[in-house]
Amino acid sequence: VLPKNIRNFSIIAHIDHGKSTLADQLLMKTKTVESRDFQAQFLDGMDLERERGITIKLNQARMRYTASDGELYALNLIDTPGHVDFSYEVSRSLAACEGCLLVVDAAQGVEAQTLANVYIALENDLEIIPVINKIDLPGADVEKVKREVEEVVGIDCSNAILTSAKQGIGIEDVLEAVVKRIPPPPDNTHKPLRALIFDSYYDAYKGVIVYFRVVDGELKPGDTIRLINTAKEYVVDEVGVLSPKQIPVDRLYAGEVGYLAAAIKAVADAKVGDTITLKKHGCREPLAGYREVVPMVFCGLFPTDADQFGDLREALGRLQLNDAALSYEPEVSSAMGFGFRCGFLGLLHMEIVQERLEREYHLDLIITAPTVKYKCTVKGEEVIVDNPSKLPDHHEDLREPYCKMDIITPTDYVGPLMELAQARRGDFKDMTYLTETRTTLVYDMPLAEVVTDFFDEMKSRSKGYASMEYQITGYRPNKLVRLDVKINQEVAEPLASIVHKDNAYKIGRALVTKLKELIPRQQFRIPIQAAIGAKVIASESISALRKDVLAKCYGGDVSRKKKLLSKQAAGKKRMKSIGTVNVPQEAFMAVLSLG
Ligand code: GTP
Repeated sequence: VLPKNIRNFSIIAHIDHGKSTLADQLLMKTKTVESRDFQAQFLDGMDLERERGITIKLNQARMRYTASDGELYALNLIDTPGHVDFSYEVSRSLAACEGCLLVVDAAQGVEAQTLANVYIALENDLEIIPVINKIDLPGADVEKVKREVEEVVGIDCSNAILTSAKQGIGIEDVLEAVVKRIPPPPDNTHKPLRALIFDSYYDAYKGVIVYFRVVDGELKPGDTIRLINTAKEYVVDEVGVLSPKQIPVDRLYAGEVGYLAAAIKAVADAKVGDTITLKKHGCREPLAGYREVVPMVFCGLFPTDADQFGDLREALGRLQLNDAALSYEPEVSSAMGFGFRCGFLGLLHMEIVQERLEREYHLDLIITAPTVKYKCTVKGEEVIVDNPSKLPDHHEDLREPYCKMDIITPTDYVGPLMELAQARRGDFKDMTYLTETRTTLVYDMPLAEVVTDFFDEMKSRSKGYASMEYQITGYRPNKLVRLDVKINQEVAEPLASIVHKDNAYKIGRALVTKLKELIPRQQFRIPIQAAIGAKVIASESISALRKDVLAKCYGGDVSRKKKLLSKQAAGKKRMKSIGTVNVPQEAFMAVLSLG
């Protein structure tokens, strides 16, 4: 296929607006995937993704399509992850395209994530084709959603495509629009090789499989490549296209997307956003937009059983082969023993990793509350603090990461959401009416307030209708203090947190009350205290256990007794002793949901 008949595009949408369903339809319509071996939602490869119904890892597929003009086209669909944690990957996959489909749910309209994705597409100068999906729904209001897209997003909707991905309506129109409205890639085959990496994954047999877009030049097996930003060199074993299975080809030319294998050992060696060139006669100038992704959210992972420490290290090592954004280093805590301090892109990323460690590696873990990365100055030097218990006692200033938060909500919930944002130390920036019934709110907010239960609270205060999106903007100094927790006179390091001075009393009080509820009574009385430095600001105590748990059982009902005992045993698994006190998993997360 000639460059003029190539189209590189992706699909952007808010979660659940139908991106994967539409992608499936395109693959079926072009017979890229036969419906008989069609696995629902082919592009979402990982099981976890399918279960959670979200796209985590992007992927790509080449479709062959004979358009109404009689010509054969190669349509490269590059899938993008659907979550804010992975927005850098989204930006790189969009940078590999000339156009995109903007899918908007005909019953829901524009949501926060729709907007965030559109901005990335606009930054990359993409041709945006609006697609109004789910027109089969009784609540669909196509005209209203078109107006909303025009007003809010600022793109013409007079020739928006109407689809029901579920019922297969409008799919041909989408394919025709891709061919007619999205420009072909420029023909830069004569230039020295430059290719943009937009994704990669680890394969046990071939090493890392790198997904890329050839921007200039051409690439073939046997070439020695150089990654410009990391200065690593490899000999290419295989290049090919995804259809969506891997099909090796002789070479790939400017304008095409594909994969390569070159015995690369870990995805961190072929980073998303890096530029591939040739070692000889290569290019020195990398493509624009390379960025190191840095973890933003940290937590401690400790095996409940100390014997599993080695297994945990091995499992983290394996996951990291396939996840350049995951960081970990050993952490020793007098309270918790040996474990790891791990860094993640965001909360979803953190949950995914935790779930995989437990599910795929059968580890029982105690997970401490997530925290952000603070910065402080000690004797003129900047110190990074990703663990509240390690905050140096004598620091000069303390800074925390901030983000710009966009919330889109039905106007009815503006009041409760503003209250929430204010309670979470948000600085109000802007409010605009999108339509008669919907409003966006913009806040500057400490990231630490977002990584707690902000999302859940926002959903519950808006009956599920509000959506949000945030972007890290930088660091700001604040009056922050470390809040320590003592259980039975011992400092419980994993329960320490960094909070705003003005809220410290309230949080301290709520925390000890919550811990009192969560920590089971034991044979002795357990004092629980919250303290700032040497000063105790709140205290509670758990009275000693008197009754036998089994006394609750009536007479000799054996099965009931067994059930109660096994419930206790299961509960015990997720406990860690701090001093002589058994502390359950929930208590380590208590600081997140103080309300
Ligand atoms: P992420 O992968 O999380 O980004 O979601 P998505 O945008 O890929 O959404 P997905 O395709 O998984 O669709 C979400 C839900 O909407 C699924 O239950 C689909 O069956 C349903 N859906 C998709 N398209 C249509 C449609 O045209 N009509 C109706 N009624 N339902 C649809």
